[in-house]
Amino acid sequence: MSARIDDLLSRMTWAEKIGQLSIVFRPDPDDAAALVRKGLGSTFWPPSADATNALQRVAVEQTRLGIPLLVGLDVIHGQRTIAPIPLSQAAAFDPELVRALAHLAATEARSGGVTWTFSPMADVSRDPRWGRVSEGFGEDPWLTSLLVAAMVRGYQGDDLSAPDAIAATAKHFVGYGAGEGGRDYNGADLSERALRAVHLPPFEAAVRAGVASVMAAFTSVSGIPMHAHRHLLTEVLKQEWGFDGVIVGDAEGVANLVPHGVAEDLADAVRQAYAAGLDVEMGGSPLSLDAAEIAPGRLDPARVDDAVRRVLATKEALGLFENPYVDPTAEITTPDAASRTLVRAAAARGSVLLHNDGSLPLAAPRRLLLTGPYATSTDHLGAWVQYFGARAGSVADELRDRRPDLDILVEEGVDFLSPTDAGIAAAVRAAREVAVAVVLVGEPSALSGEAASRSDLRLPGRQEELIRAVAATGTPTVVVLVTGRPLVVAGWIDEVAAAVVVWHGGTEAPAAIVDLLLGDAEPSGRLPMSFPRSVGQIPIPYAHENTGRPASTGGTLTAEHHDVGLHGPGNVQDKYSSKYLDLPLGPQFSFGHGSGYARFSHGAPEVSASVFPAEGPDDETVTTVSIEVTNLADRRGDEVVQVYLRDVVASVTQPVRRLVGFARRTLDAGESATVSIALPREVFALWAEGWRVESGAFELHVGSTLATTQAIAVEAR
Ligand code: BGC
Repeated sequence: MSARIDDLLSRMTWAEKIGQLSIVFRPDPDDAAALVRKGLGSTFWPPSADATNALQRVAVEQTRLGIPLLVGLDVIHGQRTIAPIPLSQAAAFDPELVRALAHLAATEARSGGVTWTFSPMADVSRDPRWGRVSEGFGEDPWLTSLLVAAMVRGYQGDDLSAPDAIAATAKHFVGYGAGEGGRDYNGADLSERALRAVHLPPFEAAVRAGVASVMAAFTSVSGIPMHAHRHLLTEVLKQEWGFDGVIVGDAEGVANLVPHGVAEDLADAVRQAYAAGLDVEMGGSPLSLDAAEIAPGRLDPARVDDAVRRVLATKEALGLFENPYVDPTAEITTPDAASRTLVRAAAARGSVLLHNDGSLPLAAPRRLLLTGPYATSTDHLGAWVQYFGARAGSVADELRDRRPDLDILVEEGVDFLSPTDAGIAAAVRAAREVAVAVVLVGEPSALSGEAASRSDLRLPGRQEELIRAVAATGTPTVVVLVTGRPLVVAGWIDEVAAAVVVWHGGTEAPAAIVDLLLGDAEPSGRLPMSFPRSVGQIPIPYAHENTGRPASTGGTLTAEHHDVGLHGPGNVQDKYSSKYLDLPLGPQFSFGHGSGYARFSHGAPEVSASVFPAEGPDDETVTTVSIEVTNLADRRGDEVVQVYLRDVVASVTQPVRRLVGFARRTLDAGESATVSIALPREVFALWAEGWRVESGAFELHVGSTLATTQAIAVEAR
């Protein structure tokens, strides 16, 4: 700890210390200045470089100790240039892309005086009913860990004091994605094993990547709200992992301990939160500086000093004691060409082709129809952007600008939510007159994100009806699905020629969608989260655990079996197995599903070592998987080779398969390449009262999707 911090701490009054432990939402400028004069340590962004400097000047010049402010903001997927939502970024299976997008966001944000973002979201999300799945990296703990670390590196760089770096926050610690029923803010009953194997790894990856702060979750874990969870906040995060940054509360999360029913009143809530290990309260109500709740004697002085040190150390790392101000002439307020190019490429890279009979890319259509609410809607930014994020245009305008030679009919057909079908007839008439119909449908941004859980995951309003009506004309129908979460697509997916998920793609989404339609870019993402067949089968992660009665076929009440009667004679031998009677097996589209416009063949996988020592350093490569991949198409394309692990016999039940490695390669038409993926020992480890690699047999499943993998055996001894 620096001499400066020791010195400051030795001179601070109780009130000055408490002031450092609070971040308030954006107050009006006069109130903000008054709070800062009273010692407030952190605020949400004012929001401009000038306004930030003005407030910083109050802190530096008009307070006794001149401690600069931390300036926080939810910079989630872009500040001015809006990138695709994190779920889309995850679909790109490209950590370097995630890093680059976070770096762009950090550069823009810091230029305006933001020094602290509340991102990345490290919550493993296995329940698409939960609206916040849009903010995270999907259902897989290993992929989420990799991308969380990449995003932290992108925000923070090597030096937090650099003009292109901001402090990152891994949130929401922990279990927020596991809320019962997918309902936001709901509690989760999680075993130590579920925490260790699924929910904690992305946070540990963030800590290893040097994340500056971690945010406590709104949720309760096994009966203890996270803002009061001493075991997880202090014993695991701070002591076991050695996290020396700031634990920040979520918005009013401390005050929420009262309605949670574990604190008598605000004073009790504050006492519990600080005893549990919280460092900074967000919102400002409990710690309104001179409140009785935090009078001397209410909180442990050593704990308060520890929290203050963490805050001051963050300010020091950001270089704020030397450089509290930003140069207002260098504030970035609009995207430049390079940032637009980056987010446009990202939007295509994260788009996932669900299926395609060859109708995509559109083959030189002279006359086409754009229909559905997203033909003309400009709502592409996603659920969490600030009002100053650069807006997107519409697909119809973009296509008209780019291809004035085309005869483009536009009929919205239906809007997002309303029950009226007034426009469907017009859309159907238009569909009969064109060579191809593009139906642009989806979930508007407001239906995902915080406090946006849904119980029905079909397209809202009458959009499904529009798709079916257009497809029924016989005109080849291509669906572009704009969404913040996996949706249930069973009602229409088999009736259309092609479907591509483009998520909420950000400022350049319309340009990227047109790139995909015309074949100027390929949708080369893979699903980071499974698309369920029905809400009733949620959660349906691909990495579910083995059962004693795995099913090999679907239920007897499904379309595939109904011709053999209710009891399904063909299915009798599989009756007592783990499945739903009324659904085929598995999700509609599994994690890892997707293909671009090219087509690839794979040779047989090989491993550099088929036997390796069970004990040794975690990060040591124990075997390398190689596979020859050939692009069979007449166009260049990207393949994502995925490696899944099956632990054949273990001391505790294991996922049927789980992702342990992948590689994305671009291959020219006809090109072959050997793709090699090194596997460190730690990916073979399981949690059973500690991480360890158990000796015995493993299978590696290698391929372009879970459905097409080839197995190869390895053994730990
Ligand atoms: C969200 C956090 C966010 C905070 C500050 C809360 O409601 O849960 O993710 O960082 O608000 O805006």
